[in-house]
Amino acid sequence: MNDKPTGIANGLTNYGDRDFSLYLRRSFAQSMGYSRAMLAKPVVGIAYTPSGFNNCHRHFPEMLEAVKRGVLTAGALPIEFPTISLGEVFLNPTSLKFRNLMSIDTEEMVRAQPMDAVVLMGGCDKTVPAQLMGAVSAGKPSIMLVAGPMMTGRHRGERLGACTDCRRFWAQYRAGKVEDSEIVEVEGKLATTAGTCAVMGTASTMACIAEALGMILPGTAAIPAVHADRLRAAEATGVAAVKLIGSRLTPERIVNQKSVENALRVLLAIGGSTNAIIHLTAIAGRAGIPLTLQRLNELSDTTPVLVNLKPAGNGYMEDFFAAGGMGALLRELKDLLHLDCMTVTGETLGERLSHEGTGWVDRTIIAERNKPLEATGGLVALFGNLAPQGAILKRSAADANLFEHEGRAVVFSSLEDLAARIDDPGLDVDAKDILVLQNAGPHSTSAMPEAGYLPIPKKLATKGVKDMVRVSDARMSGTAFGTIVLHVTPDSASGGPLRLVRTGDRIRISVKQRRIDLVVDDAELKRRSAESKPAAQAPARGYARLYAQEILGADQGCDFAFLKPR
Ligand code: FES
Repeated sequence: MNDKPTGIANGLTNYGDRDFSLYLRRSFAQSMGYSRAMLAKPVVGIAYTPSGFNNCHRHFPEMLEAVKRGVLTAGALPIEFPTISLGEVFLNPTSLKFRNLMSIDTEEMVRAQPMDAVVLMGGCDKTVPAQLMGAVSAGKPSIMLVAGPMMTGRHRGERLGACTDCRRFWAQYRAGKVEDSEIVEVEGKLATTAGTCAVMGTASTMACIAEALGMILPGTAAIPAVHADRLRAAEATGVAAVKLIGSRLTPERIVNQKSVENALRVLLAIGGSTNAIIHLTAIAGRAGIPLTLQRLNELSDTTPVLVNLKPAGNGYMEDFFAAGGMGALLRELKDLLHLDCMTVTGETLGERLSHEGTGWVDRTIIAERNKPLEATGGLVALFGNLAPQGAILKRSAADANLFEHEGRAVVFSSLEDLAARIDDPGLDVDAKDILVLQNAGPHSTSAMPEAGYLPIPKKLATKGVKDMVRVSDARMSGTAFGTIVLHVTPDSASGGPLRLVRTGDRIRISVKQRRIDLVVDDAELKRRSAESKPAAQAPARGYARLYAQEILGADQGCDFAFLKPR
């Protein structure tokens, strides 16, 4: 007989008398109206993340009801609990800074409170990786339920979806092609329903990755937030959570070397967000699995881009769902995937695909393997003297004419410097130059914001220049596009060579050779290095201090050193 306590008898508060602790807990739980019979059931915790500062989760109350319905039907007691929520556009300096805080919150609350399994309700960009990181570290049976994407809106006859179209209209506005009155009109039409950004941005990429890892129910990554299927998925997730109780299928077992490679394949095939490399590295890192950029390049060479969604292509997430969604994509990739990976349903990926059959697929959105949109993956890592530990280029969203390019560096030493000078009519810049942003990496005070999508200088934008090579240690929104080299590692603030670049230097990029080099001789770089100032002092207190002391580079997923498994 298994004497391990379950339900609310799990993990008692320590008063030095276990029976008293349970008696007190039951008493206080009954004060919330639960009967003794309900309190005898196993408990499914629900990590619940609605927030007035998170538009993407505004439908969570309705989803919560559906999850609870599923849990109750399957014979357990659902109890929701709050954790930090990260609304992408409401956080300063950037949501990534707080992803690890949310992961700590999730891990500790899952571990400390009495639950036998947990449903993780997330969606907006950093919430899904934060919850998966926390769940892997907590090691309790867990299943994820994502918010689902927003529906598109309409503007003067064309479809609009956050946030590729946000950027497209803003670029046109900066170039003087859209009037003040129209940009105000567009602002009200970009995000009109609940749910996460409508394109294959970071949130949707992470939802697809969660499905590829086996951490959400099959076929649920792309269901629109407002679709009835989203509520049916929520109910089914509640049922599945109850089935996980007592199971050995815990997240640190589901997330393994093979499932991480499946997730990488999917990331490459969907032309997904560059941010996902950082997040997947961090999630895998919590399970003790290294994810190297060299391996990313190997998989990128043998994984075609099959999904035609913005920002790299044309469609929106609602089209991906209608086209056949993740099931259709996984079937196309079948021979490249590790089919023996277990999923939260208790089935392997191969079993899932074998009984899903072959449904109708819209080939304008999900291409066949033998007619891919691109023969090789959407992301590629570059190495060289400018990025000894790697940098990322989203080639599926870049201008191929700039893949083999040498240009003069025009350097901005910080975000403030960029804001002050980028639109200066006197800025010495032309379209063949390479814009460089320093001090925007994970070790900087700005904590690696999505600022790598440097705007085209106004004097060039008004002349019709739409793309230039841009290089930084920052990140880029998953909804952005352009020939943009990101995550240069080590970053400037931790002493990386990016800090040594000066305006006028030559930078050479070769996607073919996977290289990015600063064409300056070593002696000069040594001289500049000796001259460069020491990094800023760590903040005096609080989370900012913990962040400054513990943050790791992009190559290690920007996790905190002390959160890695021992
Ligand atoms: Fe939440 Fe884009 S703002 S996913």
